[in-house]
Amino acid sequence: NDASRSRLRIAIQKSGRLTDDTEKLFKNCGIKINESRDHLLAHVENLPIDILRVRDDDIPGLVMDHVVDWGIVGQNVLEETMMQRKVDGMPTGFREVMKLNYGDCRLSVAIPQEKEWHGLADLEGCKIATTYPFLLKRKLSEQGINFKPVLLTGSVEVAPRAGLADAICDLVCTGATLQANGLREVDTIYESKAVLIGRDQDLFPEKQAIADLIIPRLKGVMAARE
Ligand code: PRP
Ligand code: ZN
Ligand code: MG
Repeated sequence: NDASRSRLRIAIQKSGRLTDDTEKLFKNCGIKINESRDHLLAHVENLPIDILRVRDDDIPGLVMDHVVDWGIVGQNVLEETMMQRKVDGMPTGFREVMKLNYGDCRLSVAIPQEKEWHGLADLEGCKIATTYPFLLKRKLSEQGINFKPVLLTGSVEVAPRAGLADAICDLVCTGATLQANGLREVDTIYESKAVLIGRDQDLFPEKQAIADLIIPRLKGVMAARE
């Protein structure tokens, strides 16, 4: 009765844009997570499911490396990870189990409030702090713009104030983070939604049975909320 064969393992964002909606969706599907958010691994008591709480940026890799069966992640993080892993020669396989009806956000360029803006060409030669260098580079190369990426996996929004960068490229959902940091959104480079992804390999039959039970519930709950 090996847990890795019999319990469906799902990675979700530990804290951030997707966390509340994901937990709400699970709750409405009868997936009861009892442990608090600081537990990395939460056993669901009423179903053979384990929830792994991690940084959203780690989720696609965990699925592609077959460490977890399912993951809930933004399309932006998924696409960035694929580009990065192709360069690194790492596996990029996954299956899209379903699109989710939350987590809408955009990857945008933002600059200090007081700075002038005429268009993306203003970014020529600038230092831009981001967690998504590949998506940013794809967009700016299309326009022939060169920039210096400053890689930060968190707190990107403080980079201009800290003197680390001239601009940032980060996810914007409500805009509260930008506003709190004296930044204004000037261009959108990618639109994203949350997706449920799974490993690119058949599941053990016990796990497939859990998936078959959960998928219609997830769809039903989302349809009811539309
Ligand atoms: C993103 C982004 C901002 C926040 C923006 O973080 O980096 O912190 O969401 O949302 P808002 O416009 O509603 O303020 P994410 O959820 O990816 O968490 P992370 O930065 O810890 O990875
Ligand atoms: Zn993130
Ligand atoms: Mg953030």
